[in-house]
Amino acid sequence: MNLGDYKAYVSAETMMGPNSVRILAELFDKYPLQFVSGDMILDLGCGTGLTSIVIAKETGAKVFANDLWISAEENEKRFAKWGVGGQITPICEDASHLHFEKKLFRVLISIDSYHYFAGKKGFFQEKILPFMKDDGVVMIGIPGLKEKYIGRAEELLSDWLGNDAHMFKSPKQWKELIGASDRIESVKTWEMDCFDEAWDDWLGTNNKFALGDKRHFEAIIKPYTCFVGIYIKMKKAL
Ligand SMILES: C[S@@+](CC[C@H](N)C(=O)[O-])C[C@H]1O[C@@H](n2cnc3c(N)ncnc32)[C@H](O)[C@@H]1O
Repeated sequence: MNLGDYKAYVSAETMMGPNSVRILAELFDKYPLQFVSGDMILDLGCGTGLTSIVIAKETGAKVFANDLWISAEENEKRFAKWGVGGQITPICEDASHLHFEKKLFRVLISIDSYHYFAGKKGFFQEKILPFMKDDGVVMIGIPGLKEKYIGRAEELLSDWLGNDAHMFKSPKQWKELIGASDRIESVKTWEMDCFDEAWDDWLGTNNKFALGDKRHFEAIIKPYTCFVGIYIKMKKAL
């Protein structure tokens, strides 16, 4: 995918952290999606819907854009302004209590949000898997801890993240957390490549949270953290 196509949407107002469009682009390039007509995609923890518009335009599929902190009304206005109101349905629900039909989604994408709500063993099987079609795909990109600092998140990241430091886990820890199921074919986790560029884009804005992150970037964020990629493939129907 061409990042330049989405430059106009990425701003201090729409970004909520390191450039989510770059994180998404890396996932799309690594695991190109195959679609069947009528497939639907869930963008879970979509924030202002920056990733939702990219997903809609890149795939042509119908997208459900779910978030907790940003209201459906606010995202609806933004999607209408962007000209994708008919393709993206905004929803405001807690990821732990989603109300979709079972086996609705061919693809679920979650950028920079899954770590807020899914850090408990069994979460994927209980809260996400029921909504995935057989043969579906889940792609996640989240900030995490570099593998060599496993188990030291609180000690190393608390000055930056306070009580949220425990949410940062290594690729290996995420693989264990996602776990297994008779509906899951494979789970892959890895350290992503787009760390420097995604952070540069964010720190280059004058968003007040970016200014806070800037103070911790060299001493904490850069040496100890990474972006964790997670790819989960569901089994085909028997
Ligand atoms: C750092 S923002 C990232 C937003 C967007 N994905 C992006 O990358 O620009 C984290 C998002 O996670 C969402 N989130 C946190 N907890 C959630 C929950 N329990 N259910 C749904 N979304 C949640 C928040 O609403 C917030 O928009």
